[in-house]
Amino acid sequence: MGEIQNIVILTGAGVSAESGIDTFRDAGGLWEQHRVEDVATPEGFARDPDLVLRFYDMRRAAIQAKQPNAAHHALARLDAEWPGELLIVTQNIDDLHERAGAKRLIHMHGEHLNAWCTGCDTRSPWTAPLIDRPACPACGVHGHLRPDVVWFGEMPYRMEEIYRAINRADLFVSIGTSGAVYPAAGFVREARASGARTLELNMEPSQGNHWFDEARQGAATWLVPEWVEEMLGG
Ligand code: OAD
Repeated sequence: MGEIQNIVILTGAGVSAESGIDTFRDAGGLWEQHRVEDVATPEGFARDPDLVLRFYDMRRAAIQAKQPNAAHHALARLDAEWPGELLIVTQNIDDLHERAGAKRLIHMHGEHLNAWCTGCDTRSPWTAPLIDRPACPACGVHGHLRPDVVWFGEMPYRMEEIYRAINRADLFVSIGTSGAVYPAAGFVREARASGARTLELNMEPSQGNHWFDEARQGAATWLVPEWVEEMLGG
């Protein structure tokens, strides 16, 4: 792949699909089973907090029983061994990248295993349910903890750092994401504009497929280890 030093990798639900975590937009995906407006917006939370807390309580319990797959492990290996700059930006709120060992990682849509106290604005590691309105570990007040996930209409996390990395990248790789949700869906154009090569690894062509210099179709557990091998072996 020529002179590549700095890499930005965007991941989406497709990277965790083979760990048994539902994607959002595939057949049988989460947004077929639930209305986005009900469970993934501040307005939905204000309207029916119990519904939203139960939804995330179930998902938080479920991901703790899942394991990282070969794609997460390959990306963690690349992170450990790549001598240049590297940043994994994930839209996923599961913790499978870090459980595989990835370190240079940003959760732009938040994390299932964090709770955010809207009273004292503290984020705390959280593995238990929130439905019973437990006390915030920081301020001790009950009733202000919500999942630390970014809902539609809210600003994704650490965008300045992400754009800085994209603008320095020689290679931008998008893995397992449909390209339906901004701002992540716009990263490929930002990367192109600043001169990066762009590669997509996905089960099917994404919505922004034509923006990529190269696109490979297949399962992440197969495509990602193969690509990482190319990067490290080549
Ligand atoms: P989607 O469900 O929209 O897209 C998943 C993509 O992964 C699809 O393009 C699939 O073809 C692909 N895919 C499925 N299984 C795969 C596999 N085994 N290997 C490779 N690719 C596979 O999920 P995202 O693009 O991650 O945001 O969704 C983006 C955001 O929309 C999420 O972060 C979430 C959601 O609404 C918020 O909740 C804010």
